Amino acid sequence: MQATARAVSREAVKQYWTERAASDSTNATTNDVHLRHLERATLVKHLRDLGCSAQSRLLDAGCGDGLTIATLAQEFGCDLVGRDFAPSMINLARVRLAAQPSLRADLAVGDVCRVVEEFGAESFDFITTDRCLVNMASESQQYAALAAISAALKPGGFYLGIENFIEGNERLNAMRALFGLPPIAIRWHNNFFRESEFVERARHSFRSVEKHEFSSAYYFATRVVYSKVCAVEGVEPDYRHAVHAESVKLPTFGDFSPTKLFVLGK
Ligand SMILES: C[S@@+](CC[C@H](N)C(=O)[O-])C[C@H]1O[C@@H](n2cnc3c(N)ncnc32)[C@H](O)[C@@H]1O
Repeated sequence: MQATARAVSREAVKQYWTERAASDSTNATTNDVHLRHLERATLVKHLRDLGCSAQSRLLDAGCGDGLTIATLAQEFGCDLVGRDFAPSMINLARVRLAAQPSLRADLAVGDVCRVVEEFGAESFDFITTDRCLVNMASESQQYAALAAISAALKPGGFYLGIENFIEGNERLNAMRALFGLPPIAIRWHNNFFRESEFVERARHSFRSVEKHEFSSAYYFATRVVYSKVCAVEGVEPDYRHAVHAESVKLPTFGDFSPTKLFVLGK
């Protein structure tokens, strides 16, 4: 299936996130709080496996309300930098970190495309994004961001990107169709990657490209089985339902999730 052309501007997406942060200080970056927990646990595990330590310098680009940064500060106590282009998100992140004075991070407004201009080339051991690049208005901006991330990493450094992909979404929707459920549409402010193209483009800027599936079982349980039960019972799905809380414990199986972790080594 061909990706459709988008008439979405960077400013409109920025406005969306600015307003979300202003209107919902607890779940500003997603309503799916348990998926977010799974994402953070996945990042911590892989960062640890890759040797992240108190001596590491790490940038979380598109850090949102700073929940990931706070987790990484607790886990690694490393030199942490968080940037987000929505000032109200950075405000939330500052409030979160200020409430835990033992946790330190450099938090400021910034654009993932401008990391080299701001920090210089080869500045970080690790760069993470969690559903940040998927918000960029065009494919060319997304791949420019990927190249900028590579340039801002030290040789031997790693980019860990949790982003969304069209193919996983299509497989999820095929499962939903089996249960008579409508497809989940990609939201207007999201621009999912096509996986094969992402891998090819990543190989231009990185020496190693690894895909890690971590949320397929969670998506299958919550977006197929639980959604079907909700449809039968005539109730709206609730992100805080116990099914969501329990489903993060499932061992991963299948490939039914749009959300993947890619670990790219420079
Ligand atoms: C879905 S939220 C995720 C936030 C956070 N990473 C998390 O895991 O909760 C996406 C975030 O990316 C930010 N963002 C989108 N495009 C950006 C860009 N070009 N530069 C910096 N931040 C950006 C948005 O403002 C928003 O806070």
